[in-house]
Amino acid sequence: MNKITTRQIFKNACELVVSSGKYVKSAHIASTKPSSDNKESFADLVTEYDRGTEKLLIGQLSRCYPAHKFIAEEMVADGGECNLTNEPTWIIDPIDGTTNFVHGFPAYCISVGFFVEKDPVLGIVYDIPNDKIYSAIKGEGAFCNGRVIKCSSTTDLNSSLLAAGFGPQRKTDFLRFKMGIMNTLVEKCHGIRCIGSAALDICHVAAGYIDANVQFGPHIWDYAAAHLIALEAGAVCSAPNGQPMNLLSRKLLVCSTDELRDQIVPLLGDFPLPHD
Ligand code: IPD
Ligand code: CA
Ligand code: CA
Ligand code: CA
Repeated sequence: MNKITTRQIFKNACELVVSSGKYVKSAHIASTKPSSDNKESFADLVTEYDRGTEKLLIGQLSRCYPAHKFIAEEMVADGGECNLTNEPTWIIDPIDGTTNFVHGFPAYCISVGFFVEKDPVLGIVYDIPNDKIYSAIKGEGAFCNGRVIKCSSTTDLNSSLLAAGFGPQRKTDFLRFKMGIMNTLVEKCHGIRCIGSAALDICHVAAGYIDANVQFGPHIWDYAAAHLIALEAGAVCSAPNGQPMNLLSRKLLVCSTDELRDQIVPLLGDFPLPHD
């Protein structure tokens, strides 16, 4: 795919993401708390806005690019395929941070990644309440509202600020395991923040607001876009063995600089998959 075409696709996708964000914003104008249903646990929420945003995005993108494929959270929840092939594929999280969205906590976003031959080509994460668009086109750097962003230059875990994402799984064994890792990490850093959006956490690493992020078993749609933004900002996304992350693996994810990754990885055990 040549650069002009990629840029046109990027521009088109950015406009679409921002206009879908207006629809998400309308929820809090219409009522104080959008109503929600449960998915796999009482803490796993979905709203009409998750489904509506996804429909808007897929509808518009498939009209523009009829041959393109889609992997999207609510589509997969309804039995759709989660299979990344060589075909041009959009990977969509219509609202990342649904729990925040429901409660009115201002940390949720729309995440849209585009892959060709299984490689990320572009990533857009729209932080709706803060009106910030994090974005990247492969090889062209990472941006927030058009300004270049870079990950932090902190090299010492003892001087770092971390973020963690727990996921909606509420089984005691997994929670104990996650708390064990958090305990180990918090002893070695300045603090751990849990804002409840994997895509924003990773964009915050890209922007240097935090130094590292640990996510417990994220889905591909949680970080398909943010992953490219982080890479373009100079960060790495690693599996618990320190190797580059396979986006479909649902392993524990570490997003940080190389130096911090090398200090965090030895502190992690081998993480069992959340659906084991
Ligand atoms: C969730 C958020 C949360 C992370 C979970 C994700 P959702 O996504 O990113 O921070 O810890 O693993 O499932 O359900 O709000 O799109
Ligand atoms: Ca969800
Ligand atoms: Ca998500
Ligand atoms: Ca979501």
